[in-house]
Amino acid sequence: MCEYCGCQALATIDELTREHDAVVDLIGDVRTADRHGDVRLMTELARRIEAVLEPHTEVEEHGLFPALAGDFPDQIAALEAEHRLVEEVLAEAAGGVPADPAWPGRLLEVLDLLRRHILKEQDGVFPAALAGLSTGDWEAIEAVRERAGCLVPPAAA
Ligand SMILES: [Fe+2]
Repeated sequence: MCEYCGCQALATIDELTREHDAVVDLIGDVRTADRHGDVRLMTELARRIEAVLEPHTEVEEHGLFPALAGDFPDQIAALEAEHRLVEEVLAEAAGGVPADPAWPGRLLEVLDLLRRHILKEQDGVFPAALAGLSTGDWEAIEAVRERAGCLVPPAAA
């Protein structure tokens, strides 16, 4: 562990950012699948988004957010509420193509919300964390990451 240079903080944020990037790419694929009327592919992509978000949300809600909730309680509560909204719609894809004919529309709507949510984290939460958290906070976040894992590998050097 590198105690003072901040590299651990940057690595942790980099990993969360890679997951955001992967999700944004998948959201683009969902929109393309919708244009082709391919609900089966939309279902498959929803499951892939859910898989990337599972460890990601764990790291945010059990590591990053608790470290920031003292200073930003309302913002953190709002972000967690958005996680639940997104999860609800994604979970409908768990058993295959949802029977509800309104699901593809609800999926597109909640993915728009997710995209705005990601921007709020990138532009608000992550800079606030890099500016304000202690080495102990980053170690605690990294411990959650080690338990949760990560589905998005680092880019090849
Ligand atoms: Fe996030």
